[in-house]
Amino acid sequence: MKKKVSVMGTGTMGTGIVHMLVVSDYEVVWLAHSSGSVAGAVEGIRKSLDKALGKKVISRDDASMAMGRVSATTDYREMEGSEAIIEAVTESEAMKMEVLKNADRYRGSAIIATNTSSISITRLAAAILDKEAFLGMHFFNPVPVMKPIEMIVTEYTSGETERRALGIADACGKTVIKVKDYPGFVANNILMQMLNEAVVLLEKGVAEKEGIDKIVRLGLNHPMGPLELADFIGLDVCKDISDSIYRATKDERFKTPELINRLVESGKLGRKSGEGFYSYRQRDTYDV
Ligand code: 3HC
Repeated sequence: MKKKVSVMGTGTMGTGIVHMLVVSDYEVVWLAHSSGSVAGAVEGIRKSLDKALGKKVISRDDASMAMGRVSATTDYREMEGSEAIIEAVTESEAMKMEVLKNADRYRGSAIIATNTSSISITRLAAAILDKEAFLGMHFFNPVPVMKPIEMIVTEYTSGETERRALGIADACGKTVIKVKDYPGFVANNILMQMLNEAVVLLEKGVAEKEGIDKIVRLGLNHPMGPLELADFIGLDVCKDISDSIYRATKDERFKTPELINRLVESGKLGRKSGEGFYSYRQRDTYDV
C-alpha cells in the first residue's frame, strides 16, 4: 500500500512540505481551511513543482506523477489512515492548538509533528491526547531545497514516534538534527538576531538596504543578504517568530524592530505581497 502523510496549512511551508513528500512517493492529504484555499493550494504546489521542473531537478513525468499524489481537502476525516500528520499553519499558538486538537480526533495510529518555528513543543503537546505521538519537525524554506530538519522531542515523545519521524525525514532525503525545546530552537535563535540587527542598522542609517545585503552576501558568503532573506521568509512570519521568542525570553535582541512592524501593518510582507524591504513588482535589483 502507498504511504500516506497528511499536511495541515497551505502557506509557503505547507506547500514546501507537500512538495517534498510527493516527490518522495508519499500520497498526501492536504488540509486547507476553506474551499478557496484548496484552490490556492493546488495552484501553489503546481507552481512549486514547475519551478523544480524548470531547474531540471525533476522530469516532466515525475512532476505530473507527484501532482497526482496530492489531494487537497477541508475535511479532517480524510486524514484517517495516515502514518503521520504534519502541522504547518500560521505561527499562532491559538490556531495551532485548534488544528492539532481537530487532527488528533482522526489521528488513528499516526504520529503528529508540528513545524512551529518558535512555539514551545511541550505547550503544543497539550492539544494531543496521547502526547507520546507528538514532536516538533522544523523545516527550512524552501523546503524542497533546504536539507535540515530541527527535530524537537518533549519529555513525553516516545522512541517509536521519534524513529517514525526519522524514517520519513530519511525517505525525503533530509538531515535531522535533534535540538532542545527552547524558544526559537537553534536556527531562529541565531537568524532572528541577525535579521533584527540588520533592520536596526538600516533604521540607524549605517548603510542602505542594498549595502547591508551586499556586505553579508559577499563578505560573509551567505546566499542572500538579511533583508532579502527577511522578504523571502515573509516579514509577518519574521515578526511572529521574533515576537514569540521575545515573549518567551524577554531578551531585547528579539524585540521586533519598528520598521518591520510598520511594513507589516501596511501589508508589505515581502516577496509574497509584492513588496517588503524591496519591491518585487518592478523588482529592485540586489544583484551583485
Ligand atoms: N523546487 C521548488 N522551488 C524551488 C527550487 C526547487 N528545487 N529551487 C528554488 N526554488 C524556489 C525558491 O523557493 C524561490 O521561490 P519564489 O520565486 O517563489 O520566491 C525561487 O525558486 C528562487 O529561486 P532562484 O532561482 O531565484 O534562486 P536559487 O535557486 O539560486 O536559490 C535559494 C534560491 C535556495 C532560496 C537560495 O537563495 C538560498 O539558499 N537562500 C537562503 C535560504 C535560507 O536561508 N532559508 C532558510 C530561511 S529560515 C527558515 O526557513 C526557518 C523558518 O522558521 C523562518
